[in-house]
Amino acid sequence: MHGELSLILARAGALDGEARMQLERVSSELEAHLQTCARLLLLAQLDGGVLDRQLRSEDVDLVMLMRELIELVTPLAEEKAIRVERLHMGAPARRVHCCKALLVEALFNLLDNAIRYTPGGGRIDVAVLRRERHVIVAVSDTGPGVPAQERRLIFQRFYRGALGTKGAGTGLGLTIARGIARAHGGDVRLCSPSGRGATFQVRLPVA
Ligand SMILES: Nc1ncnc2c1ncn2[C@@H]1O[C@H](COP(=O)(O)OP(=O)(O)O)[C@@H](O)[C@H]1O
Ligand SMILES: [Mg+2]
Repeated sequence: MHGELSLILARAGALDGEARMQLERVSSELEAHLQTCARLLLLAQLDGGVLDRQLRSEDVDLVMLMRELIELVTPLAEEKAIRVERLHMGAPARRVHCCKALLVEALFNLLDNAIRYTPGGGRIDVAVLRRERHVIVAVSDTGPGVPAQERRLIFQRFYRGALGTKGAGTGLGLTIARGIARAHGGDVRLCSPSGRGATFQVRLPVA
């Protein structure tokens, strides 16, 4: 259905401005609903342990993965004149056993939040570190951070903070990111103090 809509839009030169705008609205609403459905399904699958077999099935270098993800989100960041900096991302490799697609989902959610909740002109730092038996991916931003009273709530499903409710979203991003990390024997934590930019850390057992 979404594909067909895109096709119609691509050929919509012949449509008048009003009709075109309506189609574009329908298309972006549909996109948002599809994303919500996909997230609800993923959450249910994580809860049900359905994905357990594919966890740890791949050997992934987190430095390489973060380089790929930064490439992917750079256009989004550039729209807001946000710089994305890579820290501690040279050799050596920092490998984990994981399901790559799930890890991409978790890490993308953190980058997406950092871009979404950082005002234009800000900066995001991404670091990949080895700490004893774990690999840590840290995503820090220069946005307003998470208020003290919201720190424990933001990982709950459907919770959206004062910042979140201003834009599109479902309040499932952090729940999913943490669910995926925990399914891999790791975790996601908010590490920054309140009100001074946000730093989220994903911790995963080293391969
Ligand atoms: N980088 C960040 N800086 C400040 N607040 C954040 C950041 N990331 C998440 N939050 C807060 O946590 C809430 C929950 O995030 P999330 O689960 O991704 O849901 P959503 O982004 O759909 O609101 C957001 O609504 C926002 O209030
Ligand atoms: Mg989010």
